[in-house]
Amino acid sequence: MATVDKNFREIAVRHGVELEAVRPLDHTERLEQLARVLEKRDVPFPIAPDIARDYYRRAAERLPFGVGTLTGQTVDLGPYEDFQHYDQYTLEEHLSWACLVADQQRTKHRYACREYLEGEQMFAIGEQVIPEYYLLNAQIYQQTGWQLATVSEIIPAELFFTCHSHRFFPVTTFMRELEQDYLQEPDIGHDIAGHVATFTIPAVAGVMKNHGDARDQIYSERDTLLARARDDQERARIQAWADELLLYAGRIYWFTVEFGLVMQDGEVRDFGAGILSSPGETVFSIDSPESNRILINPSDDGDLLRLAITDYLISEFQKTYFVMSSFSELASLTCERIVLAAKRAQKMMHYTWREIAPGDRVLQVGRVMVSPDDKYWRLLADCPLDECLTRAALRNLRLASQPNFDRNAGDSWLKNPMPQIPTTVIEEFQRREARGEFEQETLPMHWDFEACHRG
Ligand SMILES: [Fe+2]
Repeated sequence: MATVDKNFREIAVRHGVELEAVRPLDHTERLEQLARVLEKRDVPFPIAPDIARDYYRRAAERLPFGVGTLTGQTVDLGPYEDFQHYDQYTLEEHLSWACLVADQQRTKHRYACREYLEGEQMFAIGEQVIPEYYLLNAQIYQQTGWQLATVSEIIPAELFFTCHSHRFFPVTTFMRELEQDYLQEPDIGHDIAGHVATFTIPAVAGVMKNHGDARDQIYSERDTLLARARDDQERARIQAWADELLLYAGRIYWFTVEFGLVMQDGEVRDFGAGILSSPGETVFSIDSPESNRILINPSDDGDLLRLAITDYLISEFQKTYFVMSSFSELASLTCERIVLAAKRAQKMMHYTWREIAPGDRVLQVGRVMVSPDDKYWRLLADCPLDECLTRAALRNLRLASQPNFDRNAGDSWLKNPMPQIPTTVIEEFQRREARGEFEQETLPMHWDFEACHRG
């Protein structure tokens, strides 16, 4: 135990954390704190006394926090339902939180946009110990109208956006290992220390809610189609069509809410939760010469489509960051525009996360940049650069090989037409595809869906 403590002490010192301060409140102290918060009236979303009483009772009875109960709404998390058992967190987990938050604060203050930093000041999430969700949920609700819904792991996009449509934000209950800077699956460090401040930025919270509404609209259309489907095959095709739309809508969410940057006073600043929850990526996203940085005006349909047709990976720092021209223009991302962009993306070729497209307003050409044709040559030469290039190349080539595929479909939104795939490349691909050389399944392609279901 003495050795462990010594290691903890060394780690704490390394991150500027005072180990003695890493001590969670006991149950009674937490309840006192909760009672004080629940009484607040001078907040944008005050909690009605009867609801507050029931909420407090649940906490007092030690019912573990699952889904926020401060509104009449709830959400069914199915097999992903989870609970925060606060007293089970170890000192190591609390220390991991404290070290991460300390590192984040150092980088956030240099790289985060003004609104994010102001948002963090609205309520303390606690720097020394993992936040207790009863208390945090009440504080978030009072300031933003959003609540937490506790999940066991990464959840399917459909459920994720269903939560958003009811203003629930899914959060996990586990904390990353000590001194781990980046991990691809969400943890408390990402969900809370990264996301919570973004709820306070009205444009970002609006984009989150609108993605929830976009899911509702897509699934409502799906249900109408399912009602007149003739067989299981058709039903499966309709479901895959809806899931594909959610995938492309999810890209808009990814490049804004998760990994978005914004121009502020002539400087590029971070607001994406995925960036700001990783101290390493916070610096990388703005200072590194590796990645592309492209200016986007979200109120421009072509720029919005650019996000929906760009593939990416979650396993490492991003290769392209999109910089929003302003939050007021980000606020133009309505549910209707998100759904329309996703539908257009279905009909089109896609870019990978390393490319710069014709018409892009380029702030930085990253060292990782490849030309749009590169993904095809690499596929045919069997020298893949990464999974993102391979799957986009396969999808585009299979799409271009369809007999009735319209190469210019969707282009009218773009400022510049997409580069055409050289005919020799398509022919070479088709010869080898016929021999079964490319076994990977491609992303779903429902480019002809509307034609098939017309009427
Ligand atoms: Fe996230």
